[in-house]
Amino acid sequence: MKELLSGYHALVCGASRGIGRATAHALATQGASVTLLARDAEKLARLECELPRLGSAQHHSLTADLDRTDTLPAQLDALRHPVHILVNNSGGPPGGPLLEATPEQFRRAFERLLIAAHLLTQAVVPDMRAAGYGRIINVISTSVREPIPGLGVSNTIRAACAGWAKTLARELAPHGVTINNILPGFTATARLASLFSARAADSGQPAAEVETVARAGVPAGRFAQAEEIAAAIAFLAAPTAAYITGVSLPVDGGRLHGI
Ligand SMILES: NC(=O)c1ccc[n+]([C@@H]2O[C@H](COP(=O)([O-])OP(=O)(O)OC[C@H]3O[C@@H](n4cnc5c(N)ncnc54)[C@H](OP(=O)(O)O)[C@@H]3O)[C@@H](O)[C@H]2O)c1
Repeated sequence: MKELLSGYHALVCGASRGIGRATAHALATQGASVTLLARDAEKLARLECELPRLGSAQHHSLTADLDRTDTLPAQLDALRHPVHILVNNSGGPPGGPLLEATPEQFRRAFERLLIAAHLLTQAVVPDMRAAGYGRIINVISTSVREPIPGLGVSNTIRAACAGWAKTLARELAPHGVTINNILPGFTATARLASLFSARAADSGQPAAEVETVARAGVPAGRFAQAEEIAAAIAFLAAPTAAYITGVSLPVDGGRLHGI
């Protein structure tokens, strides 16, 4: 049986753990060839071996630091095949009171989350246009709808990312290329654990209590598994999602209040 993503090549950023790792699995399970990008070469090599290989799918790794946007374009020359699916994803900025955020924290988050996504997009879109098929999926945050207290730098830069993606959606649609944002709610990954311990350290509350309060705000009564975020990304990556572009899809167990 031909899988939904057979013959397509996906570049998944931030693939060494968490949401990116689960996404690489989800896309490979649908038959895609996957190139894994992150900084930890060893983890990528292990994951490359673990991914399902369906049909003629082949997986590769690309060790790169998305903070180094000066060297990123040259590193992307190593991509061995045209990319049909790009997942823009990486580590989120640290939390803390916004008033104390330094210009350097803003610059770094802007480089990693927006400039890197832009350079990656510029690198892959010519082949997507030539193929008449492209899916760009940005892992952002529910903060583009409702800013999250204590994550001011992230809230600010994520809003910029959403504006960037919405503008590109119109430019790319005539070429068969869609661009959409996934807005994960609380997702059980290393990122969430480190945010909770930082919040616990700041407030003097035990980490377990911070976690309980956060969980109580989720109507579904639990945090997401990374695989549940990945499933939404795989849905947007498929040919069947061709008419969906420029949207921001929350996957948050009902946590957002707005319509
Ligand atoms: N988890 C949540 O509850 C949640 C909620 C909303 C939004 N988000 C956002 O969703 C994204 C993914 O979250 P996650 O929970 O999966 O995070 P995570 O567990 O911290 O994983 C982040 C991934 O990005 C890679 N990465 C980090 N910095 C990088 C850099 N400079 N260059 C290249 N790769 C880099 C990491 O690998 P290496 O260290 O190997 O490079 C890792 O594979 C983040 O932007 C996060 O803020 C998460």
